[in-house]
Amino acid sequence: MESNFLELTKKRRSIRKYTDKPVPRELVEYFISCAAYAPSGCDSQCWHFVAVDNREIINRLADATAKEAIEFYGTGYSGATQEFLTSREKAVSFFRNAPLVIFVFMDKMKYYDERAVQVFSKKGYDYRGMVDKLGYYDILSIGAAVQNMLLAITEKGYGACWMNDPVIAEDKIKELLGVRNELKLISVVPVGEPQYSPRQKVLKDQKAILEYR
Ligand SMILES: Cc1cc2nc3c(=O)[nH]c(=O)nc-3n(C[C@H](O)[C@H](O)[C@H](O)COP(=O)(O)O)c2cc1C
Repeated sequence: MESNFLELTKKRRSIRKYTDKPVPRELVEYFISCAAYAPSGCDSQCWHFVAVDNREIINRLADATAKEAIEFYGTGYSGATQEFLTSREKAVSFFRNAPLVIFVFMDKMKYYDERAVQVFSKKGYDYRGMVDKLGYYDILSIGAAVQNMLLAITEKGYGACWMNDPVIAEDKIKELLGVRNELKLISVVPVGEPQYSPRQKVLKDQKAILEYR
């Protein structure tokens, strides 16, 4: 028999169409609890979530994101046909259809060993340069939290999609949500009852992705 955990990881799929059924706030809090148990670099827990379940606010965010995308992709590129722009608009703003959208932010974090920070600083690295050299530990922490959240959402019978395309409108989204300036928008996760079952996923052969030494 397959393990329950493998089954849950298989069941989690990107869902992009949802029914109107609301997602209760108790469940939102459960999803965020699961996210918050994720590991994080220096145990920084450098995440911040804004859950939006207000239809009017979701529409405003989707409108603003679509507008930013059209502005960005529609200028400085001669291949920007109407068809291309319509497809970009849809790709960045389909979170509009969800009854709940969770905006995932990263907070600035401090590396635990100040002496190590000094070495980087002496060698000319800025904050971002140091984090990148050490393997993006702040962004990875957010990824771990998002994946925990997606599994929790799946476990409770809801569907979601991990989205980065809307981040194109980060400044506008931050302004509309009224969040602190230091927060960086990393991902957007629309959540709702799935309106369809996705096609079966074809995985790469394990022999191609795993080596032993
Ligand atoms: C970091 C990240 C960003 C993603 N951004 C988007 C996105 O902007 N729009 C979208 O439709 N899907 C996005 N996806 C979902 C992927 O397209 C999806 O995970 C992939 O096609 C595999 O399908 P599955 O999630 O059903 O297994 C993203 C996934 C990840 C991990």
